[in-house]
Formats: sequence, C-alpha cells, structure tokens
Amino acid sequence: MARLWVVCLGTCLLWSVCECQLVYKLKNLACEPNPKFVSNASCKLRAINWNKSVANVSCFLHEKIYPTVQVQFFKKDYTNQFKPFLVDVKMNICDVIQKKSYFTYGVILWKIFKKFSKTEHICPFYDDVVVQQGYLESDLIPPLPKGIFQCSLTFWSNATTPENWGSVKISLESMDMVKTKKKSRL
Ligand SMILES: *[C@@H]1O[C@H](CO)[C@@H](O)[C@H](O)[C@H]1NC(C)=O
Ligand SMILES: *[C@@H]1O[C@H](CO)[C@@H](O)[C@H](O)[C@H]1NC(C)=O
Ligand SMILES: *[C@@H]1O[C@H](CO)[C@@H](O)[C@H](O)[C@H]1NC(C)=O
Ligand SMILES: *[C@@H]1O[C@H](CO)[C@@H](O)[C@H](O)[C@H]1NC(C)=O
Repeated sequence: MARLWVVCLGTCLLWSVCECQLVYKLKNLACEPNPKFVSNASCKLRAINWNKSVANVSCFLHEKIYPTVQVQFFKKDYTNQFKPFLVDVKMNICDVIQKKSYFTYGVILWKIFKKFSKTEHICPFYDDVVVQQGYLESDLIPPLPKGIFQCSLTFWSNATTPENWGSVKISLESMDMVKTKKKSRL
C-alpha cells in the first residue's frame, strides 16, 4: 500500500510542477509525553501569515533512547472525523539517521527534524530535544490532496518490551497558497 502511494505521489509530483501552489499549513499541535520518561514538554504553534505557522517543540528526556517511531496519517472526511489515510509505518529512526535504512518516511522525518532541530544528542537521544520554528515545506513532503490531515508520531523505546515515550499530533491543511492581492485603487 505504502509503495503504491509513493508511485502515485511521484505522478502527482510531476503533475503538480505546473501548479506549484500547494502549501501545508500547520493548524494544531498536541504533545502527549509519558511523564515517566519525559518532562518539561512544550509544544507551541504560532501563525506567521495565511500560509504558514511555525512550531516550537521541546522536552527533556530522562533516559537515553533509540526511538522507534510510528508515523500515521489521517484525513478529515466529510463527517468531520479523522480516518486513517494510507500511511501507518513503524521505523527505527536511528537506523535511518545512521544510514542503515533508507525508509522513505523515515528519511523525510529526519530531513525535517534536522532542519529545525537544536538537539545535541542524536542516537541515542537524551537530555534536551528542541525543535525551533519548524514548518512543513511542500518540497520535502510528498504531495497530499487538499484537505485537513493529522500526522501522528508515536515514540517507543527499542527495549525488548517497548515502552511508549509519548506522541506528537500535528494537524495540517493542504491548500492552495494564499496570494496577497494587490489592492486596486478606487
Ligand atoms: C524544567 O523546567 C523548570 C522550570 O523552567 C526548570 O527549573 C527545570 O530545571 C527543568 N527541568 C529539566 C529536567 O529540564
Ligand atoms: C519559538 O522559538 C523562537 C526562538 O527561541 C522564539 O523567537 C519564538 O518566539 C518561539 N515561538 C513560540 C510560539 O513560542
Ligand atoms: C503566502 O506566501 C507567499 C509566499 O511565501 C507570500 O508571498 C504571500 O504574501 C503569502 N500570503 C499571505 C496572505 O500572507
Ligand atoms: C537499541 O538500539 C541500540 C542502537 O541500535 C542498540 O545498541 C541496543 O542494543 C538496542 N537495545 C535493545 C534492547 O535492542
């Protein structure tokens, strides 16, 4: 299924070259840290303009972690409910970072994280994890149809019995870029 989506997205990517106006505006951000492992979690979103919001996320990790990340996409349907949308994958993000794995969604996630991260310790992650002024560039992400989506990231330890470290839920709107109209003089 995931592979099919990639093929489909590739096609859309070619197609959208002519359109080029799609933006993914962050709409909402919710963090649900497991207090056993994570403290001082902060998730903030600030609107910059009609097309763009930026996110600051930070937390403190009590222990060293080689996270397994589950990425799930949901799309809001006509009944206003989020329904699973094509992507539901789990990966060891350290394998992606250390280039032992080239898993598509892992590579995308790592590119975005790397761009905005101020985190010092990577693989294992520990102490402070900080993402500043983060946003989703449409050229880093496969083209999504228009609509409201939720991307859920759930973090697990790689212990024999994996423990849930928490999750981050990001809502975004895939929409045409809002152009500033030049005011015509009356
Ligand atoms: C958490 O935040 C409080 C208040 O800002 C600070 O005093 C404390 O040192 C922080 N704890 C950690 C583990 O970062
Ligand atoms: C995010 O962090 C930056 C840099 O520290 C700061 O300038 C900005 O005000 C923060 N935004 C929010 C919404 O907290
Ligand atoms: C939307 O983004 C574009 C490109 O960044 C910018 O030129 C335009 O002014 C923005 N529109 C609004 C309404 O802020
Ligand atoms: C977790 O991952 C790290 C790095 O790949 C590895 O060294 C460690 O043995 C793993 N732990 C378990 C319990 O598999």
